[in-house]
Amino acid sequence: MVKFPTRLHPALCALGLLLQYFAFAQNLTDSQSSDVETRLAEGATHPWELGTRAQAILEHNVRAFSVFSLNIPSTSVPSDSSSAIAPVLSIAKGVVNNRTASNGNITGAQPLVADDSAADPASIGPAVLLANWTNLGDGVDYAGAALDQLNFLYEKVPMTSDGAISHRTGELQLWSDFVYMVPPFLAYYGLLTNNQSLITDAYTQIKLYRNYLRDTSSGNLWAHIALGNNSNGVANDPGHWSTGNAWAAAGMLRVLATIQSSSFASDMSSEQDDLANWVFEIHAAMYPHLDTSSNLFFNYADEMNTFLDAASTALLASTVYRLSLLRSVHHYLPDAEKCRETLFMSNSSGLVHFSSDGWLTPVVNPDYFSAEGSDSPESQAFILELQAAWTDWVNDGSQGANGGSKTGSLGGGTIIVAVLSVLWMLLF
Ligand SMILES: *[C@@H]1O[C@H](CO)[C@@H](O)[C@H](O)[C@H]1NC(C)=O
Ligand SMILES: *[C@@H]1O[C@H](CO)[C@@H](O)[C@H](O)[C@H]1NC(C)=O
Ligand SMILES: *[C@@H]1O[C@H](CO)[C@@H](O)[C@H](O)[C@H]1NC(C)=O
Ligand SMILES: *[C@@H]1O[C@H](CO)[C@@H](O)[C@H](O)[C@H]1NC(C)=O
Ligand SMILES: *[C@@H]1O[C@H](CO)[C@@H](O)[C@H](O)[C@H]1NC(C)=O
Ligand SMILES: *[C@@H]1O[C@H](CO)[C@@H](O)[C@H](O)[C@H]1NC(C)=O
Ligand SMILES: *[C@@H]1O[C@H](CO)[C@@H](O)[C@H](O)[C@H]1NC(C)=O
Repeated sequence: MVKFPTRLHPALCALGLLLQYFAFAQNLTDSQSSDVETRLAEGATHPWELGTRAQAILEHNVRAFSVFSLNIPSTSVPSDSSSAIAPVLSIAKGVVNNRTASNGNITGAQPLVADDSAADPASIGPAVLLANWTNLGDGVDYAGAALDQLNFLYEKVPMTSDGAISHRTGELQLWSDFVYMVPPFLAYYGLLTNNQSLITDAYTQIKLYRNYLRDTSSGNLWAHIALGNNSNGVANDPGHWSTGNAWAAAGMLRVLATIQSSSFASDMSSEQDDLANWVFEIHAAMYPHLDTSSNLFFNYADEMNTFLDAASTALLASTVYRLSLLRSVHHYLPDAEKCRETLFMSNSSGLVHFSSDGWLTPVVNPDYFSAEGSDSPESQAFILELQAAWTDWVNDGSQGANGGSKTGSLGGGTIIVAVLSVLWMLLF
């Protein structure tokens, strides 16, 4: 065992504090973000991955065209944004051009992509609506494809008796993932066509899903999958899947931002209040389960025998910054900051939670939600969304950094302690 001279102890202590300070200052470099984006582009192939990738690119690279800018987007893309938005429009074009072939050349109500999930193809809907809106002039019928997707959801997909649209085509089954895939599309369709009933239905679908999936006996964590009976290959899953809780919170915030951007905002204040409260409800249910030694969530939030998952940790943290920005609800910011600092932490060999080529780790397998996986495209999108939400929050003055109390700033305090410790180290 190595024995240190005792006078080194303060120096080591100072070094530790300095390292802690640099961990606080942690941020992805442009080249690290670009690796994350490249891996996402390579990996995203499933419908929900394409939709999530499009949304992450808008939030991270083309802020003026993301719903979080709280504007109706411009109908023309400024030339300095055209290369940033190109991958989003290219997802829309690829999907719409291939649509009828993938659906067996049918006409009328149909999903954007043939899939067992009724919800996932709709996640690409906002990109398709944006392609129509910005008038690419390439002769592709984006508006027709979006309308067919909308009609498909209402006309061809099973519904509960109270109107919740199924997440699956083959049987009536409700997944928490749905909240990110469908309501943001309905709301965005309503925003761009000035149709309040669609925006209202985005809200109503969320309300219905919450009724089915919120588990009051677990302190309001959402169950992952309700109803259905495995006739379609997926049994229901009453467990509290962390990514599902994060999907739900993130979908609600997109709808909330869309309502705020619309001409119906003042008319829909109680809907906005509900959405904000339901996001907060998920934060309040989830954060007590954050594993304090890793600052990550378990794959099933309240099942400590499941593996640790950085994907859900990233997406949920992004929703804390978004809720703070949209509604000045700051309570869970210190938790989100802890998670972000952990995820973006480096040691001398680079980012601790990423592979050398930029894949987030450890992550749930995106194709098999109860197993640990690697190289998860959705987790790459979550990182961009986290980086974007945090950056927007910093640019807005980091309001509520201490969780809403009036005094104290951890960052500043840490700097002072680190500086004093260095002085101590130099003196002795
Ligand atoms: C994070 O780093 C990026 C790339 O260097 C930079 O553009 C951005 O301003 C930084 N964000 C914050 C909040 O420091
Ligand atoms: C287009 O659709 C066909 C038929 O479903 C499918 O095999 C092919 O992979 C799709 N191509 C793209 C680029 O999505
Ligand atoms: C769809 O149309 C294309 C082009 O006309 C044709 O090649 C293909 O065989 C058709 N597919 C089906 C399932 O009918
Ligand atoms: C498509 O864009 C045009 C304006 O460019 C707009 O008038 C129309 O409502 C849009 N359609 C949809 C379905 O968003
Ligand atoms: C709003 O959208 C719904 C669903 O597509 C449609 O039935 C309704 O006619 C639309 N309302 C207006 C005012 O366009
Ligand atoms: C359960 O499966 C059967 C077919 O095996 C199906 O008829 C029924 O609708 C399913 N129930 C639900 C709630 O999806
Ligand atoms: C840096 O972190 C990685 C991932 O935890 C670990 O494998 C590696 O050993 C660490 N390197 C150093 C120099 O601490």
